[in-house]
Amino acid sequence: MRKTIALFMIVATLSTFIGLAAADDDHRPWRRGSEVAPVTDPVYLRECGDCHLAYPPGLLPARSWQAIMNGLEDHFGDNAALDATTQGQLLDYLTRNSADHADYPRSRKIARQLTAGDTLLRISELPFFRSEHDELTPAMVRDNPEVGSFSRCNACHRRAEQGSFREHEIDIPGYGRWED
Ligand code: HEC
Ligand code: HEC
Repeated sequence: MRKTIALFMIVATLSTFIGLAAADDDHRPWRRGSEVAPVTDPVYLRECGDCHLAYPPGLLPARSWQAIMNGLEDHFGDNAALDATTQGQLLDYLTRNSADHADYPRSRKIARQLTAGDTLLRISELPFFRSEHDELTPAMVRDNPEVGSFSRCNACHRRAEQGSFREHEIDIPGYGRWED
């Protein structure tokens, strides 16, 4: 009987610890492996997640988002124009969560690497991006019918929608898991 009670106490104590750890993780999701804040804004998901992944705002600095949102009529060859209210609302959301404002490891790294002058419109042109992806061949990306371009993050990063880009979650269509 005493053994049962002791065991119960151990289990109860352990569950409390696990519970606390989980609650803590909710406040700091990067501890679950998210390099940037996952996208949760329903308007952003609807308006900017139709043609491609709704890119996490923490992957570009505020001035890039501003330039993108001011040029939506000619958006990489597409017309992605929005009404003025929605455009303003989304720019506000993107700015507040941009690389220079978000407290996530990848965002901080991106903000640190940028020089004052350049306003890049693509995540896939950032210095970090180029160095992380320089081992990929055109056959894996541009000429891969299931990928087509580096802009299709979620073709390879299976948890991109959760803001997670960890290596063991990478699966290149037709090539399989990435083993470095
Ligand atoms: C009508 C389709 C469409 C909509 C809607 C759209 N985009 Fe795009 N977007 C594109 C295309 C096409 C590209 C270029 C993709 C390529 O090069 O393969 C692109 C590329 C991008 C890139 C650069 C990706 C990279 O390579 O790093 C960003 C950032 C981006 N879009 C943001 C947005 C935002 C923000 C919105 C919402 C306001 C949005 N897009 C809505 C079609 C769209
Ligand atoms: C064709 C597949 C493919 C596409 C498309 C792709 N990636 Fe990657 N990505 C990789 C591979 C493979 C690596 C790992 C490279 C290495 O470690 O050598 C990587 C690495 C990364 C890393 C670093 C991960 C880490 O923890 O070291 C980030 C962040 C990342 N990618 C973000 C993106 C984003 C954002 C996009 C879209 C704009 C994107 N990737 C598009 C294949 C891809």
